[in-house]
Amino acid sequence: MINDELRSEGGSQAEQFWEGHYRAQEQVWSGGANPVLVDVTGSLPPGTALDLGCGEGGDAIWLAGLGWRVTAVDVSATALSRVAAHAAMAGVEARIDVQQHDLAHTFPAGAFDLVSAQYLQSPVEFPRDRVLHAAAQAVAPGSLLLVVAHASVPPWSWADPDTRFPTPEEALAALDLSPGQWRTERLGAPERQASGPNGQSATVTDSVIAVRRLTP
Ligand SMILES: C[S@@+](CC[C@H](N)C(=O)[O-])C[C@H]1O[C@@H](n2cnc3c(N)ncnc32)[C@H](O)[C@@H]1O
Repeated sequence: MINDELRSEGGSQAEQFWEGHYRAQEQVWSGGANPVLVDVTGSLPPGTALDLGCGEGGDAIWLAGLGWRVTAVDVSATALSRVAAHAAMAGVEARIDVQQHDLAHTFPAGAFDLVSAQYLQSPVEFPRDRVLHAAAQAVAPGSLLLVVAHASVPPWSWADPDTRFPTPEEALAALDLSPGQWRTERLGAPERQASGPNGQSATVTDSVIAVRRLTP
């Protein structure tokens, strides 16, 4: 239904949907970094990072605060303007390169020490497998791809409560990574307590994949 509503307007469906989503509220996300990102990358030496679907920049600003040089990508210009404003407030704007891409069509150039996709999911058409293949290609040898996704539907979500999510093993298989070239460092479906927009609380499940590229 969302796709039909957007089809008649200009711009890509992804841009229209997400731009409308961010414009509707002054702040959509908590502003904090995602816990799995903190857990997986907190002890890594800072380098270059690519944050795909960065939203309002909680992860990008946290990484930049640790010394990472971050390319923060989203389809929504409003979300990216918030990333830039929050980065300036945190004094890390020199370490964040904000780029607007509809990842279905364009992908940032370069090779990175960390490529992170945190909940890069969308209720409008999105070629997620293709984008994650491109994400893997953007990982420098010796470096990490971290993909965290919703694997359950919290009560406040717009998603169909009967949605069947791929298991972490299925999601890893869909990345189609050559076993000799990649080492799996984390694969699982941890639960966490999440808060909804009106302060509700629920236990939700994530899908977590961390893979290291061993060879060029
Ligand atoms: C569920 S939000 C997650 C935001 C953030 N990573 C976080 O964890 O808070 C998904 C994000 O992906 C972005 N996104 C969705 N489709 C996209 C596309 N085609 N190209 C680029 N970004 C997209 C949205 O604008 C949104 O900020």
